[in-house]
Amino acid sequence: MNSNELLELLKKRRSYRKFSGDEISEEDIINCINIAGLAPSGANMQPWTYVIVKDKELRKRIREEAELIEKDFYLNHIPDEWRDKLAPLKTDFSKPFLEKAPYLIVVLAQNYGIGENGEKIKHYYVKESLNISIGFLIYSLHLCGLASLTYTPTRTEFLSKLLDRPENEKPVFMIPVGYPSNDYELPKISKKDENDFIKII
Ligand SMILES: Cc1cc2nc3c(=O)[nH]c(=O)nc-3n(C[C@H](O)[C@H](O)[C@H](O)COP(=O)(O)O)c2cc1C
Repeated sequence: MNSNELLELLKKRRSYRKFSGDEISEEDIINCINIAGLAPSGANMQPWTYVIVKDKELRKRIREEAELIEKDFYLNHIPDEWRDKLAPLKTDFSKPFLEKAPYLIVVLAQNYGIGENGEKIKHYYVKESLNISIGFLIYSLHLCGLASLTYTPTRTEFLSKLLDRPENEKPVFMIPVGYPSNDYELPKISKKDENDFIKII
């Protein structure tokens, strides 16, 4: 495949907020997360944990807690400017995709590592490394024909508790994965023209 073909293929990647609920291959999920794990990272510390949440009851609780937080945010705290920017995406405080998608991947940043004897291990460029890894994941899922959403909950302490994660890990993204629902209408948005973000000097 040449780069023009690759560009056309990857142009089709979009964020999906409604899923069919049909089952998908667990092997695909594991392989795509393994690809995310190949991403470059500061000093090769690989400061990430990927938790795959399959359990339906747990996902129901995650949805309930996330919606409580989002409801408060959307009703009481969201700045007007942000609300206006979200309008074309038609997002609101309801997050059914957390339950409906057959898989939910929670991505946690390891702010530091913990050695065999409990000692703290410094991690570098945690945020940058995590974001690159997520990019690998999203495109791998797309190339496997799977839809996903990079959902960033407003607050995440509840997730650490529900998933029983150690204190060096901070949940950052929740990524529902599955097949898109037939009746989901993608938001009509555009991408920048290449001249607006590529500069050749
Ligand atoms: C860091 C980051 C955070 C995001 N957070 C959310 C979110 O909380 N909820 C949501 O519905 N979409 C979220 N998105 C998805 C964006 O809204 C989406 O990528 C953008 O509108 C472009 O649409 P596209 O992915 O279909 O090209 C997020 C994307 C990124 C990269």
